Amino acid sequence: MYNSKIAGIGFYVPENVVTNDDLAEYMDTTDEWIQERTGIKERRFAKKHEESTTSMAVEASKIAIERAGIQKEDIDFIVFATLSPDYYFPGCGVLLQRELGIQKTEIGALDIRNQCSGFIYGLSVADQFIKTGMYKNILLVGAEKHSMGLDFTTEGRGVAVIFGDGAGAVVLQPTDDNDKGVLTTKLHSDGSKAEELALISPGAHGGYFHEDKEEKFGFDVTNTKLGDIFITQKMLDNKFHTPYMNGQAVFKKAVQKFPEVILEALDEVGLKSTDIDLLVPHQANLRISQFVQRMAGLNDEQVFNNIQKYGNTTAASIPIALCEAWEQGKVKEGDLIVLAAFGSGFTWGSALIRW
Ligand SMILES: CC(C)(COP(=O)(O)OP(=O)(O)OC[C@H]1O[C@@H](n2cnc3c(N)ncnc32)[C@H](O)[C@@H]1OP(=O)(O)O)[C@@H](O)C(=O)NCCC(=O)NCCS
Repeated sequence: MYNSKIAGIGFYVPENVVTNDDLAEYMDTTDEWIQERTGIKERRFAKKHEESTTSMAVEASKIAIERAGIQKEDIDFIVFATLSPDYYFPGCGVLLQRELGIQKTEIGALDIRNQCSGFIYGLSVADQFIKTGMYKNILLVGAEKHSMGLDFTTEGRGVAVIFGDGAGAVVLQPTDDNDKGVLTTKLHSDGSKAEELALISPGAHGGYFHEDKEEKFGFDVTNTKLGDIFITQKMLDNKFHTPYMNGQAVFKKAVQKFPEVILEALDEVGLKSTDIDLLVPHQANLRISQFVQRMAGLNDEQVFNNIQKYGNTTAASIPIALCEAWEQGKVKEGDLIVLAAFGSGFTWGSALIRW
């Protein structure tokens, strides 16, 4: 069995900086409110018609591939995590393959739908493929273009101020050194809270899970006929196509599960939180990261945050933060790096990496 190591890492964020004051022109909010509750000062938004989730992933991937010292044709599998795919289907994995220009190699491409935990889930899946020797150069990407899916009116302010666009990518390769690379990954979920942070319409559920199909989700249940499509005018009028978040429920569960899943991973390999050189948490909210830091007894040098500049980029946030930490010299050979995430599903997970 091999361990998988991160052989190359890269990230891309759009040029366009959107400050809290910029958002205040569209909704009733203030820089003070956003900074106090989330820590976010600004985020990046992609060019609406000239950049996509996949195009940002391409930019991040090119950097990761070059830093891994390989050619794009050497990639033998793609894992792509996003909640804002370019198309409903097919997923972004195949689009990335095409846009990188490696369709001739006909490699497999897998899409991961675990939102904020997407990168950790993807890492865990890729790690298993590398461990068994099935693949030797897996391109793992987390990318999001949230800016086209949010409600930028006062009604949507509780969600819209949090999210930003961007992409992060890593190339995973096998190593014979069992003390190096991914030491363990832990994955969890609790589907009982699926709708607490979700974008459920349009969808093929037809209101199946919900008694109040019509009022709450916009389905016309009295007048159904073959050929009805799953998008109704009522859904659009009521903005059901933008995300819903029960912010306080998410916050409460996140601050419980982040420390739990970090300790679970450390326990498994016989390490303690004092052994952590750098925790790179999913950049959900600076207040959540600070809470987790306190719960895990870590000092400021042991935790990396960049949500202040990029907002919450969901599946992209961990690879973007990890890459930026690495570029700043905060991730060194032999360091114990801990990744952890919590988000929609609810899903959560952690990974320990000996760099
Ligand atoms: C979203 C979050 C910042 C909201 O903070 P909160 O303290 O829970 O705020 P509430 O939702 O209770 O709203 C408090 C008030 O602020 C208002 N408010 C919400 N968003 C606002 C904004 N952007 N600007 C100004 N006021 C806002 C609300 O309307 C509410 O007003 P009211 O008291 O008059 O009704 C917070 O719940 C949070 O961070 N949750 C975790 C979310 C998260 O991390 N999501 C990503 C998961 S991966």
